[in-house]
Formats: sequence, structure tokens, C-alpha cells
Amino acid sequence: MLARAKQSLAGGDSSTMRVLPYHLPLVADRGEGCRLWDIDGREYIDMNMAYGPLLLGHRPKAVIESVTRQISDRGSQLGFPTEITTRVAEKVKKLYPSIELLRFANSGTEAIASAVRLARTVTGRRKLILFEGNYHGWSEAVFHKYHAPVESLPERGYGPAIPGTTGMGDMDAVVVRWNNLEVFHRALEEHGDSIAAVVLEPVMGNAGLLPPREDFLPGLREATQANGSMLIFDEVITGCRVAPGGAQELYGVYPDITVVSKAIGGGYPISAFGASRELMDVIVNGPLFHGGVFSGNAVVMSAAEAVLDTLIAHGDSVYAHLNAVTDRLCDGIESIFARLGVPAFTQHVGAVASLFLTDGQVDALHEYRDVRRHCRFDRFIELQHAAQSRGVYFHPNQFEPMFPSVAHRPEDIDEALNRIEDAARCALT
Ligand SMILES: Cc1ncc(COP(=O)(O)O)c(C=O)c1O
Repeated sequence: MLARAKQSLAGGDSSTMRVLPYHLPLVADRGEGCRLWDIDGREYIDMNMAYGPLLLGHRPKAVIESVTRQISDRGSQLGFPTEITTRVAEKVKKLYPSIELLRFANSGTEAIASAVRLARTVTGRRKLILFEGNYHGWSEAVFHKYHAPVESLPERGYGPAIPGTTGMGDMDAVVVRWNNLEVFHRALEEHGDSIAAVVLEPVMGNAGLLPPREDFLPGLREATQANGSMLIFDEVITGCRVAPGGAQELYGVYPDITVVSKAIGGGYPISAFGASRELMDVIVNGPLFHGGVFSGNAVVMSAAEAVLDTLIAHGDSVYAHLNAVTDRLCDGIESIFARLGVPAFTQHVGAVASLFLTDGQVDALHEYRDVRRHCRFDRFIELQHAAQSRGVYFHPNQFEPMFPSVAHRPEDIDEALNRIEDAARCALT
């Protein structure tokens, strides 16, 4: 099937992340709950969950019913303002009080691109501060070489952004070490007057899961306020996943501009960027254009409404469950590798978890450079292949975290752990 796909789809699929050269082939047929089946009928416990959006699992009943109702009774796309779009915006605002006005878009990339334009418009400045290992989609302003080899990273801790792909123009951005306030302050001192925005994943999820140090987010908040630049939280991964109101709720640090996406759509293509009424006025009455034929379309809105209703009505039990199964997964993984004598450990925040295979005893990883230096990417791929063959799927790139969902029951986690243990014994010992 992949060979056939390659005759029509460049590389075999529509995202390079799904057809990397070291992927063991898997063509998916269907999913249900926390399980996935391939076209040969093999079953997997899915720890990837489509890279995070499936917070309620594959094919959650509430989402199916809401979408079905919308498309059969009203329509998928009406081309006018609709009540459902307003209702969903109100529900997003309920969870994210830092947002007074928002716009919906279709992907994280799009919403981040608009958030950056918003910051540039309101500050009248152009330059961005980005962080090593952070990914914000592939748009022109922010797609830097976020997984650069460690030897190529500037010794002083920050330097000009290198475009992440061919075909891009020069970037107007400085890339700074993640989780290091001292280096950040130096970069801000050098470039402060021209910085429109500091853009970050408040919990890093694209270099494995790296929590912010205690002083990091408050330090960025204070410095950007003093400097008159916008603080943009890319909550594409963390939104509704580390807490209903994302990392900003979890850490009590509120950005100027927020982007949310994956989990709020329950598997449908949604994103939103939002800010105070005052900032968003440049869209309402001012010069900043934002559009999109499919932005806020009713199919996606109906899926998001089902997710948000669930989180608003049952938040306590949903997050207690997510935290409990993620703890169970991480504790289980750590005891497996301790038993086998293989250096490894886990980090997690809410329902985002990373397993790191290291080159020796490491107790914590704080930044991209640490992961690059200490982690065994080759061994991780071997482990992943063995796990996939035994019916557990997580991404073969150690930088990609696992995403437990509401559909993962403790017994599913235990079954996954048994399969991972067998895989680790076979591949790594
Ligand atoms: C933190 C973060 N921001 C932005 C994006 C881009 O989102 P999309 O792939 O929907 O354009 C991603 C994608 O994984 C992401 O992880």
C-alpha cells in the first residue's frame, strides 16, 4: 500500500513526519478508543494518538454524535457567521481567561503565523525570539532549524535563526537556549528594541517533554512586559492537555497572545489565536488581515464543542484520569528499564510524557542541548521497532512525546507496559 501511495503522494503521505526513513511501515485502517488497527488487521495500543489531538481517544461517541448532528441537520460549511462558532469561542474563553477575543484557523502553523503578525502589528517591531528545540509549524516567520546538530549551536547560547527548510527567505529571529533565563536576558539586552515577540512552547514538547524551570515562565513574562514585546504561548500541544486551561493555567503565567489547537478539536483540524480585546482590535478595526475559507467551519466547531463540553462538565475527573494513567505509564517504564539495567528515565507534565534512553545515568533533562547530548536516538529507534512489532505504537523519534488519552484505561497501560518490557528485553539487552 505504501508503494502504491508513493505513486500519487509525494513520499507516501502528506506529512514528512509520518513517512520518515526510519519508520517501520504502518498503514492505518481504523482506530477505536486507545487502539489502532493497520490494514493487515494488526492491533496496536496507540501512545501517539495522532500526535496529540485525540484527547478523548479515537472516535469518541460525544464527538461523533455532535458532528453527525451538525452535518445532517445544518451543514458542514455555511459561509456565514454561525451560532456554533460563537458558542465554541465562548467555551474556549471560559477555559482561557487571558483571551478576550479570538479567531479560529485550521492548523497550528496558521494560527502561529497570525499570532506573529498580530505581535508585529501591535508593537511596530519585527524581530522574534524563539528557542532551541521549539517547533511552531512551518510558516515563514518561525520555522527555524529547531533540531540543529548540537555542534552547530552557538556557544554563547543564542544566535540568528537558521531557516528550517529550503525555499524560505531570511528569518528575522534570534534563537536562544531553552530554559536558561540568563542567556535569554543577554539576547534581549542585545536585540530588545527590535523584539516584537518572544514565542515559545510553555512546556517544551518537541525535544521530548521538557518542563519549564520554576523561574523560566515568570522571568519571560516580566522581561517581555518591561521590554514592550509580546509573549506568545504556543499551546498547540499543551492546550487542554496539561490542564483544561493549558500551561498558562497550570503555572499561573499568562501570555499576551495564546495559540491553541490539537486537543481542543478531538481529531478535527482546529486552531485558534487570541488575546485581549485591545490587542485584537487591529483585526476588528485595524490593518491586520486574517481570513480562511475553512476557518471556524461547522464540522470542526461541532467536534470542538463536544470536547470542550466534556472538559467543562467533567474536568476534574478527566484530568484526574489523564494524570493517573500518565503517572502509571511513566512509573511502569522507569521500573522496566531499572529491572533491565538500561539507562532511561521519563519526564511528564499532564498527559504528555517522554521516555528518554540515555547514554548513562541522567536524572533530569532541562533543555534541547541536554537531550541531544545525552540521548541515544539509535537505541530508541531499535526499541520503537521492537515495540511496534509487539503491538504498541509510539513515534520512533525520541523527540516526539507520548500522548495518553481519556480512552487509555489503567489495564491498557499495563498491557502496553508488558509489550514495552518484552520489546526492551529483546532490543536493548
Ligand atoms: C508546539 C507546536 N506548534 C505548532 C505546531 C504546528 O501545528 P500544525 O502541524 O497543525 O500546523 C505543532 C505541530 O505539531 C506543534 O507541536
